[in-house]
Amino acid sequence: MPLDLALSIRQSRLADLREQLARALAGCTRPITLEIGCGHGHFLTAYAAAHPTDVCVAVDLVADRIERARRKTDRAGLTNVTWVHGEAGLLLEALPPETRLGRIFVLFSDPWPKRRHWKNRVMQLDFLSVLAARAGEGAELCFRTDHVDYFEWASLRVAAHPCWRLDEAAEWPFESESVFQRRAEAGYQSLVARRVAGPVPAPGSLPEPEPPVLD
Ligand SMILES: C[S@@+](CC[C@H](N)C(=O)[O-])C[C@H]1O[C@@H](n2cnc3c(N)ncnc32)[C@H](O)[C@@H]1O
Repeated sequence: MPLDLALSIRQSRLADLREQLARALAGCTRPITLEIGCGHGHFLTAYAAAHPTDVCVAVDLVADRIERARRKTDRAGLTNVTWVHGEAGLLLEALPPETRLGRIFVLFSDPWPKRRHWKNRVMQLDFLSVLAARAGEGAELCFRTDHVDYFEWASLRVAAHPCWRLDEAAEWPFESESVFQRRAEAGYQSLVARRVAGPVPAPGSLPEPEPPVLD
């Protein structure tokens, strides 16, 4: 696809998302709970039902999954979730400027096991910066995966990022099985990190962390 066409499609998606989110979050002054890559929405539907005063937003690349998720909350009569079809980075760009994230869930995000595909993993240093730019101080980033290597890779990046501090003592804030958690027969690992005060690094400015050298 020619670059100018790709850019104009992106601009038009961004404008649509801005409109959707401005409508959905109008008057919202509380920090929001965001789920990235929500799939069919099992987790956030249960979360929203258990936290009726929380304002929740979820995003997924696949339209059909978002449609199914929306039907779940409609059936349950939940009005505190906004389901967004789109890419997580674009959603973050489209959030109203005053909106702050209070809690972010990234559950069983695609592990992209081959090294040449690691660039597609969500938990990149620059993406952690984008999240940090929208997160209030103390906001929680909750990541869970059944992929051992991806867990180590993501943990290294969260630990290396100046805006996030791993909180080993933090409890997982809410338990409800997502589709991929149900399938994770060999178990999974979780981390919780907190937004600490400080400026957000410029894109590309943080060095990639080295894995620890084993004896
Ligand atoms: C492995 S599934 C996990 C779904 C769900 N979180 C669960 O635990 O069952 C990963 C989901 O993330 C979505 N996804 C991947 N990259 C994304 C991105 N950049 N923005 C939004 N959604 C994304 C995929 O479409 C897919 O639905």
